[in-house]
Amino acid sequence: MTADRIRVGIIGAGQIAELHAAGYVDNPTGELCAVADVRPGVAEERARKWGVPKHYLDYRELLMDQDIDAVEILLPHDLHAAVAIEALEAGKHVSLQKPIGLSVSEGLRVSDAAARATSVFRVFENYLTYGPYIRAKQVIDAGDIGDPLAIRVKSVHGPTGSGNQSGGSNEDWRQDPLRSGGDHALLDYGHHVASVIHRLMGPVEAVHTMRPDGAVVERQSAAVPATVSWTHETGGRIGSWEMLRRPDFMAHIPEYGVNEWTEITGSRGVMWITRGRNFPPGTAPVIVHRNGTTLPMDDVQTDWESSFVRGVHDFTEAIVNGSEVGLSARAATSVLAFGLAAVYSGKSRREVRLSDLENAGAGNDVSAAGPGPGGNVRT
Ligand SMILES: NC(=O)c1ccc[n+]([C@@H]2O[C@H](COP(=O)([O-])OP(=O)(O)OC[C@H]3O[C@@H](n4cnc5c(N)ncnc54)[C@H](O)[C@@H]3O)[C@@H](O)[C@H]2O)c1
Repeated sequence: MTADRIRVGIIGAGQIAELHAAGYVDNPTGELCAVADVRPGVAEERARKWGVPKHYLDYRELLMDQDIDAVEILLPHDLHAAVAIEALEAGKHVSLQKPIGLSVSEGLRVSDAAARATSVFRVFENYLTYGPYIRAKQVIDAGDIGDPLAIRVKSVHGPTGSGNQSGGSNEDWRQDPLRSGGDHALLDYGHHVASVIHRLMGPVEAVHTMRPDGAVVERQSAAVPATVSWTHETGGRIGSWEMLRRPDFMAHIPEYGVNEWTEITGSRGVMWITRGRNFPPGTAPVIVHRNGTTLPMDDVQTDWESSFVRGVHDFTEAIVNGSEVGLSARAATSVLAFGLAAVYSGKSRREVRLSDLENAGAGNDVSAAGPGPGGNVRT
């Protein structure tokens, strides 16, 4: 270990851990040194496979290990906030898989702990390090489509060719809304969409979800079909997101059973993000149209694993170099609030302002929210 390579421990060695471990195979600023998992034998087996020297059954022992500088928390959602706060208080740099917690109040507690800590904290969101969305942000920042005024997201959940959509160790907790947060489409998969909306268009102010009567609530999913529309805090910006589930609509992304594509209208042009490989098949991952000219951008990295590798590298680089990284705790709380507001809007059939969630407490019950100091979920 050289002085500038960060020694990292993974907490929770389930399905997604493989993609995070890939980020340490050739990482100039970080190395994987420990792994913890509560299931007997799992941490040991992963440590052997990944060539990692230490393994623990109890993550608290990993947090007490003074040789570990940083942790990646890859646990079921109900453990996120509590373990992140413990890790920050143990002096570790923390990368926490999304979401930041189950409620806005959990997000605000993590934000407070991150503000008190001297270490780096970020929420890991691989869509933000996925090539097409990185390019989209560059296009906007360069002013190529002018001021971004409206975003439209479309997603169609369907079967994958690879069968990767289900199975593995994560089934039990994902079926339990008290552990997963429920509403997979809006809060789990939806976290990715909400993060992109936040990154490209800024924080959202108010959300309205509509579902036709008879929309079906599936095991891990929101009722679909659904449409969510919203206003942003600044710039007079607006957005909408339509989601469908169609059993015969094959997903072109082998890792997940969902196709999605996004259109952003700016004051001078339009950008389409077809999300790599790709819907519709054969199109460029990003296409920009302005001044009567259409530019397909084919030089965009679209393999899924690269988004994880880049995301892991960003974390260890940020610790070493002090660079910006990932979703801050406040931004991640705002992203979570978007999903929760969309869920409650769908149930109450009314517009929900994200600030309504500030005082809603751990139960996320907007109707119970009363006046109080709260925190500002807007970033
Ligand atoms: N695209 C993505 O970025 C993406 C995809 C899938 C999952 N995820 C996220 O990754 C996280 C983990 O999801 P997963 O699919 O890997 O779940 P998983 O169930 O496969 O893995 C979770 C692991 O945590 C372990 N665990 C549970 N309680 C523990 C405890 N108290 N101490 C130590 N280990 C404990 C389990 O034994 C399991 O191995 C979630 O936050 C999920 O949302 C992100």
